[in-house]
Amino acid sequence: MSHEPVASAASAPSLQPEVGRAVIEPLPAPLRGAATVPGDKSISHRAVLFAAMAEGTSRVSGVLDSEDVRSSIKAVSQLGARVSLERQPDGSLAGGITGWGASGPRKPDAPIDCGNSGTTARLLMGVLAPWDVPVEITGDDSLQRRPMRRITAPLMKMGARFEPGGRETLPITEVGTRDLRAVTYDAPMASAQLKTAVLLAGVYARGTTTLNEPAPSRNHTELMLPEFGVPTTAADRTASVTGPRVLQAAEVRVPGDPSSAAFLVCAAVLKPGSSLQVENVSLNTARIGFTRTLERMGADVSVRHAGAAGKEPYGMIAACHTPSLHGCEVPAEKIAAIVDEVPVLALVAAHARGVTVFREVGELRVKETDRLAAVVEGLGQLGVEAYIDGNDLYVEGQPGLRAPAGLVFDSHGDHRLAMTWALVGLTGDVPVEVENFDSVKISYPRFLDDIERLAR
Ligand code: S3P
Repeated sequence: MSHEPVASAASAPSLQPEVGRAVIEPLPAPLRGAATVPGDKSISHRAVLFAAMAEGTSRVSGVLDSEDVRSSIKAVSQLGARVSLERQPDGSLAGGITGWGASGPRKPDAPIDCGNSGTTARLLMGVLAPWDVPVEITGDDSLQRRPMRRITAPLMKMGARFEPGGRETLPITEVGTRDLRAVTYDAPMASAQLKTAVLLAGVYARGTTTLNEPAPSRNHTELMLPEFGVPTTAADRTASVTGPRVLQAAEVRVPGDPSSAAFLVCAAVLKPGSSLQVENVSLNTARIGFTRTLERMGADVSVRHAGAAGKEPYGMIAACHTPSLHGCEVPAEKIAAIVDEVPVLALVAAHARGVTVFREVGELRVKETDRLAAVVEGLGQLGVEAYIDGNDLYVEGQPGLRAPAGLVFDSHGDHRLAMTWALVGLTGDVPVEVENFDSVKISYPRFLDDIERLAR
């Protein structure tokens, strides 16, 4: 497939390309009816990477076509996987990926540039750990600021080398080894990227590799590896794999992304008169914590299971406008299940009566940008008191909150912040401007089209 940029909201008429700033107009009507969202980003990355590692040709469908997933596709192509995915009428990618299997990846002729994608960079470190092929991994300015030692430390215990040794940030060159050691590793934070990197390396190590985590993070890797012929054992806060094994080609169907659906759902909760259903969306409990948080704020939100794609449950999330919301406390152990939704949930909390507290959200400081600082900044522009105490985020809600005219939000080039601040304009009654709005192409290129279609 070609790697030109996909059609994105960058082509929406309201964007001023010279400043990368979009004018987001209020929706002309409530959000109504049924929608689908593009494929799940986390599952799409794994489908591409696992297929590349496998022996034989895997069939994948529903794969998200976004910049982040393209980073993974480009990376595995450079490493010798044969990727022939085509864009489908619904905008997803589908087709075959022939992996390197037991013969391993080839040495790429240039550094692997993971763009903005932390998932690509970190999972790739696990993918490459079993092969003595030196590979330089790098990324854009944002990714070059994000911490990597959390991944390199356990992989070094297993025998992989990284140059320069002990370095925290990309670019880093990895030199794996065919002689990986199985380990039991207690992760210092709940991170599915860290868990996945260790488990993927563990597939090739002799013996059982176990990853224990302080709170349950998303479990797509544990659910998908058995589809590729590698049994995993998983329980609350622990996952294991026994090697050495070689992944075998599989068929993967990717359901819709709940993290993208969250923006439509939160928009419906905030916009008077709205009532919508997002269909064919992943209902993995490690991902839909936001529905529970919204329920605890009193929002009219429900989920209905429809089936399973492989071992991933999927179904429908329904949401209606809820005029009276109230604050709630989200405990530390629930944060991993809403880690990407905290900014948009904080915006909903800004409309609720009372204080909402998100406990232990320090990890948000090391996302695509410092999302804690950015949420406090953006809510401050709305006149909402939001502050950080230690690692806890507090939002003092204002029922009936209305945005003043003329607000310009900075997305800091972060897709989830771009969509969060866009909701202020879309669900309110005055336009807002969002700097670097086109960062939505990282995870949800057709976000504006989808939300505008629901409000016709
Ligand atoms: C992801 C895990 C999470 C999440 C990211 C995707 C994954 O990151 O924020 O968007 O696909 O494994 P952490 O592992 O850093 O928590």
